[in-house]
Amino acid sequence: MNRELFSKWGFILATIGSAVGLGNIWKFPYITGEYGGGAFVLIYLITILFVGISILIAEMFLGNFGKSDPVTTFEKVNPSMRWFGLMAFNGLIIMTFYSVVIGWIFYYIYSSINGLPTSVSEAEKEFKTLIGDSVAIQIAFHTLATLIVLHFVNGGIKEGIEKLNRILMPALMVILFGILLYSFTLPSFGKAFEFLFYPHWEKLSSEAFIRAVGHSFFTLSLGMGAIITYSASVSDRVNISKTALIVAFFDTLIALVAGLIIFTLLFQFGEEPSKGPGLVFISMPVIFSQMGGVGYFLSLLFLIALAMAGLTSAVSLVEPAVLYVINRFGLTRFKATILMGSIYWFIGIFAILSYSNSYGEFWSFFGKPLFDIFETTTDSLLLPLSGVIIAVVVGYIIKRENLNKISSEMGGVFSIWYISIRFIAPIAVIFLMLNLFGIIEL
Ligand code: PHE
Repeated sequence: MNRELFSKWGFILATIGSAVGLGNIWKFPYITGEYGGGAFVLIYLITILFVGISILIAEMFLGNFGKSDPVTTFEKVNPSMRWFGLMAFNGLIIMTFYSVVIGWIFYYIYSSINGLPTSVSEAEKEFKTLIGDSVAIQIAFHTLATLIVLHFVNGGIKEGIEKLNRILMPALMVILFGILLYSFTLPSFGKAFEFLFYPHWEKLSSEAFIRAVGHSFFTLSLGMGAIITYSASVSDRVNISKTALIVAFFDTLIALVAGLIIFTLLFQFGEEPSKGPGLVFISMPVIFSQMGGVGYFLSLLFLIALAMAGLTSAVSLVEPAVLYVINRFGLTRFKATILMGSIYWFIGIFAILSYSNSYGEFWSFFGKPLFDIFETTTDSLLLPLSGVIIAVVVGYIIKRENLNKISSEMGGVFSIWYISIRFIAPIAVIFLMLNLFGIIEL
């Protein structure tokens, strides 16, 4: 099998690109708002530190060890474990709603050129009309998002994925830090800071706990083979544990920066932080329109940054399944990309329908729209579960002497990581899963 390799920086940027996505700029602020701020952020930071980073290192190690798609990698560890590699398909499930949201962003870029809503009710109406009535428009933008993503996946590791990230990631950081500097000059910056970093424990529930842990997997792109697949395409000379730390650092930094920007603007213009998934689509446009000329400019920059973050993550959600199909069934990259893309594109249409006023009820199960089912089953169930599998495989199945690469990279820290991967990470996640199923009460 001829393996295409990232350059060292290409690998770092692509992995940051995978981690930094809609999870950081769209989801992190709205779930933080919903669960009341500080305490939620603290739990999220603790999980990133004690569980997320350990599993990130483990996934990178597995990728470097297997040097192939997730299924082949698990097979190399032990042939009976190849089924675990099917976690590569979690990415396609995520793409069924992720691509729809990228489509919303495209729609908003387009509609904000024509003007921004001037009141919350107007903005709410626009968002509700988009998701409730405009099935065709959403399908059109979901299709556009799909075509862009597939174009870069079809380009392969070097000419597609690395190239995309080399341009978009630095641009994204410049835009976000530019907007952060601007928010810093506003009086409500302090209030936003307090909201994010002062823990109000009374607002915390066990549900918030699970969401925080689930989100730490989602945001670091864990538990679906993206990191395994990217790390399979890197030279052995790259220090993977150091890269894992860099990736986790930037991922967390960007989530916090996005949170600071969004809450500063919200508080400045007297909006509620608990607006749910519509936060960046309802509250933000109104705020930007109240700012006048600079607002239009900021709105466009913000949406473009959001789209860039989404696209660089999306390619990593599709690549694992594509690589698997290429390796297993001998398909060309082009055919594999079209096939995997069509699957999530098609199912994505039902996610769109599940929010619509006319078909929503039909495409809802147990009172939940399909869109939400795809979202919560991945981030609260499939990703953490796959994370436990990765922890157990690296912590118990792979022999200690095979871990030499990372033990020499990490030096003394290795034993702490090894304890974390064998005990802390799996036990913490299993506890939360049991709680999720109501077997134990946290
Ligand atoms: N980490 C991405 C985000 O925060 C989402 C993602 C999850 C990407 C899993 C790849 C794998 O938006």
